[in-house]
Amino acid sequence: MQIHETAFVVSTYRSMYETVSQDHFAKLWNNPKTDALIPNILKTISKDEALLHALRNRFFYEFMTSYFEKHGGGTLVNFGAGFSMYQFQLSEQVNTIEIDKKDIIDHKKDRIDQWMNNGALPKRNIEYLALDFNEDSEAQMVSTLKPLIRKAPIFILVEGVLFFLDQKTCDKLFSVFAKLQKKGDCIGSVSYLPEVEDTKVYKRLLHYFDSNNDTEDPFSHQTTPQKYYENLDGYQLLEAADGFGLSKVYAKAHEALIKKEILNESMYILQRS
Ligand SMILES: C[S@@+](CC[C@H](N)C(=O)[O-])C[C@H]1O[C@@H](n2cnc3c(N)ncnc32)[C@H](O)[C@@H]1O
Repeated sequence: MQIHETAFVVSTYRSMYETVSQDHFAKLWNNPKTDALIPNILKTISKDEALLHALRNRFFYEFMTSYFEKHGGGTLVNFGAGFSMYQFQLSEQVNTIEIDKKDIIDHKKDRIDQWMNNGALPKRNIEYLALDFNEDSEAQMVSTLKPLIRKAPIFILVEGVLFFLDQKTCDKLFSVFAKLQKKGDCIGSVSYLPEVEDTKVYKRLLHYFDSNNDTEDPFSHQTTPQKYYENLDGYQLLEAADGFGLSKVYAKAHEALIKKEILNESMYILQRS
């Protein structure tokens, strides 16, 4: 599996639980190749993966909706955006900057332009930027991004990405964020706590990636302690949540999840101080 295929998988998950994710556009990306991968993932890793990804989306959707409503719009900068569709879930007062590897960005821009032109999607103000977080320097990222940001406040999202990076790249990204943001701007981040590494389900996830990595893509397997966020220079940790807790809020009708049997990701909201 290539890293970009994970973006298709996550998008399909959101479409499988549309009421939970509130992403009514995710299904536009559904395709037979991804559909063929999903049953095996749900069987060999965990049956709850689709619901958990829908919950993750819902958490950020809810926070960003009220954040941008409060400020009358702003800019969402989505690092490793994949095929996420927040730009259409949020109001037209929000500008979006979509960042990912070049193949994803080219494909996404192409399809989105088509869908906005034929009325399948509402019109939005979207910029696209191809970056490789491992390769590009901090200075390059800051200087290419700065001119694209035209509306405050800035919400930076890094969702479902840190797992694939190493610590050095992760530190570089957070340093880029600090250079782009001003007091009151926010970050939404997702990572696994180190204790998740001891669960059988996480071992199955690593095994899945190791045995299905048919490319040169560097798959790091990173987990991040909450202290990393608590100690981040220039930021205050505003909120922390996890998939298990969110299921009790947004998926009450769903069969209860068993904490140690799910891939329980943690979601964080940080504010620039
Ligand atoms: C699992 S997907 C998540 C996509 C999206 N954020 C979501 O939650 O639907 C991971 C994304 O991170 C991107 N990514 C991973 N490593 C990257 C890197 N070194 N530079 C840029 N993007 C990267 C992938 O291309 C992919 O789109």
